[in-house]
Amino acid sequence: MSGRLSVDLTGHAAVVTGASSGIGRHMALTLARAGAKVAVAARRVEALQELVAEIAAFDGRAMAVALDVTDADSVRNCIDTAETELGALSIVVNNAGVAGRQVALETDEADWDRVIDTNLKGVWLVAQEAGRHMVRLGHGGTIVNIASILGLVGASEVASYCASKAAVVNLTRALAVEWAPHEIRVNAIAPGYVVTDLNRQFLEGPGGAAILKRVPQRRFGSLEDLDGPLLLLVSESARYITGSVLVVDGGHTAVL
Ligand SMILES: NC(=O)c1ccc[n+]([C@@H]2O[C@H](COP(=O)([O-])OP(=O)(O)OC[C@H]3O[C@@H](n4cnc5c(N)ncnc54)[C@H](OP(=O)(O)O)[C@@H]3O)[C@@H](O)[C@H]2O)c1
Repeated sequence: MSGRLSVDLTGHAAVVTGASSGIGRHMALTLARAGAKVAVAARRVEALQELVAEIAAFDGRAMAVALDVTDADSVRNCIDTAETELGALSIVVNNAGVAGRQVALETDEADWDRVIDTNLKGVWLVAQEAGRHMVRLGHGGTIVNIASILGLVGASEVASYCASKAAVVNLTRALAVEWAPHEIRVNAIAPGYVVTDLNRQFLEGPGGAAILKRVPQRRFGSLEDLDGPLLLLVSESARYITGSVLVVDGGHTAVL
C-alpha cells in the first residue's frame, strides 16, 4: 500500500494562504503535484518565490502573491490577482495562522488581537472574498480551513489560539450551511501536533515530550499525514461532505 491518494486536480485553480512555510507550503506542493494551478500567498514573498520555482521544477504551475490576511484590501487584491492569472478559483486553503504561548493572566490586548485577527478574521476575510467570486461566477468550489485540535479541546497558555481555532470550526459549519445552495463546500482539517516553525522550539523541549506520551500513536504528525485528508476534501469524492471537521491527530483527542 503506497498510502497515497490519487486525485487529479488538472484544470483547477487554488489559493493557499500561509504558503511560505510549514503546512501551507506543503499543501501547496501537494495540490500542484495533483495538477492544480496554485496561487501561493503569504507576507514573505521571497520564500513564496522559492516555492514557485520548486513547483515549476516538476512542471507544475504556481504564482506568488503577497498577502496579509488581517488586511481586507490585501485579501481582495490576492483573490483578484489569483483569479486573473490562474482562472476561476475552485479551491481555497485557509491555512495562515500564528500561535502565541502566554499565560492567560498576562496576555495583553495586542497579543490577543494578533492571534484572533490572523487566525479568525483572516480566515473569514479570505473565505468571504473567495466565496464572492465563486458565487458571482456560479461554478461552486471547496474551501478547507486549517483549524486545530486546540479548537476542539483546551490547553494551558494558549487561550487566544484555542479561542481562534474553536471559532474557525464553527465558522466552517456556518459558511457550509449558508453556501451549500451555491455548491460551495466548506470543511476544516483539525491537525494534531505537527513539528513546524510554529511550535518547533516547544515540541522539541520537555513540553513536547509530555504531549507525545498522550498521543496514542506515540508520534507527532508529519506534513505528509495531511495529504490524504486535504486531497479527499478538495476532490469530487467529497461531494457530500460539507461542514465537517476532519481530525488528523494520531488519536490525541480520542483519549481521556
Ligand atoms: N504545526 C502544528 O502542529 C499545527 C497544528 C494544528 C494546526 N496548525 C495550523 O496550521 C497552520 C499553519 O501552521 P504551521 O504549523 O505551518 O506554521 P508556520 O510554519 O509558522 O506557518 C504559518 C504560515 O502562516 C503565514 N502567516 C502568518 N501570519 C500571516 C498573515 N498575517 N498573513 C498571511 N500569512 C500569514 C506565515 O507566512 P508569512 O510569515 O510569510 O506571512 C506562514 O506561511 C496554522 O493555521 C496553524 O494554526 C498547525
